[in-house]
Amino acid sequence: MYPKLTIDIKKIKENMDYLCKLCEENSVSSRFLVTKVLAGNGEIVKALLPWGFSHLADSRIANLKLYKDFPYPKVLLRLPSQSGIADTVKYSDISINSEISTIKLLNQEAKKQNKKHQIILMFDLGDLREGIFYQADYLSMLKAITDLQYIEIVGIGTNLTCYGGIIPTIEHYYTLLEIKEKIEKAFGISLPLISGGNSSALPLLLEKKIPKGINNLRLGESVFLGRETAYGTPIPNMHQNAFTLHAEIIEVQTKPSYPIGEIGLNSFGEKPEFTDLGLMKRAIVALGKQDVQLDNLIPLDSLITILGGSSDHLIIDVSKTSYQVGDILQFNLNYPGLLQTMTSSYVKKEIINN
Ligand SMILES: Cc1ncc(COP(=O)(O)O)c(C=O)c1O
Repeated sequence: MYPKLTIDIKKIKENMDYLCKLCEENSVSSRFLVTKVLAGNGEIVKALLPWGFSHLADSRIANLKLYKDFPYPKVLLRLPSQSGIADTVKYSDISINSEISTIKLLNQEAKKQNKKHQIILMFDLGDLREGIFYQADYLSMLKAITDLQYIEIVGIGTNLTCYGGIIPTIEHYYTLLEIKEKIEKAFGISLPLISGGNSSALPLLLEKKIPKGINNLRLGESVFLGRETAYGTPIPNMHQNAFTLHAEIIEVQTKPSYPIGEIGLNSFGEKPEFTDLGLMKRAIVALGKQDVQLDNLIPLDSLITILGGSSDHLIIDVSKTSYQVGDILQFNLNYPGLLQTMTSSYVKKEIINN
């Protein structure tokens, strides 16, 4: 059955090996495997074990719950919701945090569940997503946290190149290390994890410029798609094609390329625009916007062009090819496309593990 996403475990593992080696060369001794793009697919996570990554990390507690039997510490990578505190304490060993009211609730719940909950305090160094703003007075908040009996601060971290697109620099990392020193000095504690970010740190890693002391990275896109995310460049010696989407042609006909009649709105409420290219051999593929945003698809056949589509139909110019009904087209995906197809229950997942 199609559409189908094939997942090549060997290629992902080779990407993981490459990244672990690169991290070791930069003294980044701890790595979180960010699994959110797998949308809770435990079969893939299981196939990737064992690895050189120390923790399983995901932005959804529902996914971590599915991984509960895997013998690796689990990290909740989105700030906990106050309505989901019980599950956060139950299914994650560590959560990232920036709000004292949430941390106090975690403390109460951890007491109830008779365990310590570990936190990484996030600092916003300018990307303007989660984290205590680095210029704020964070020491008073730290004081309040150190008073909590069931909370253990295991580290600090920052997240860049997510909302603001800010590229990590050595200066960002020195700022993070300064924050670490200030906290350790003020409270006589040691912060074992200094988490320097995500796959956008890779260019610095490749240039061996990550300052000593930044000892953790949280990696997702680079693992699964073999690219860094500061500039979006594929990394040589890594696989960009571990995932391939296969979809079936259900119609091939020669038709005009310009619709006939008055143009109003398409099925997504947008006014479409067309260029008249005359008669064209067009294929309809059984795949649509309900499965994936169509501009996230990268056709493997360079002779075909995606024209557009609707919820369940992908329309392609196949004039330069001999495709017929029943043929299967293949696509690579960018990260949002991978996230969407992994999340769509209409897309079959097939693991290739050899
Ligand atoms: C807090 C946090 N850290 C790390 C990551 C991983 O980012 P990337 O996929 O660029 O490695 C994400 C995104 O999934 C995230 O939200």
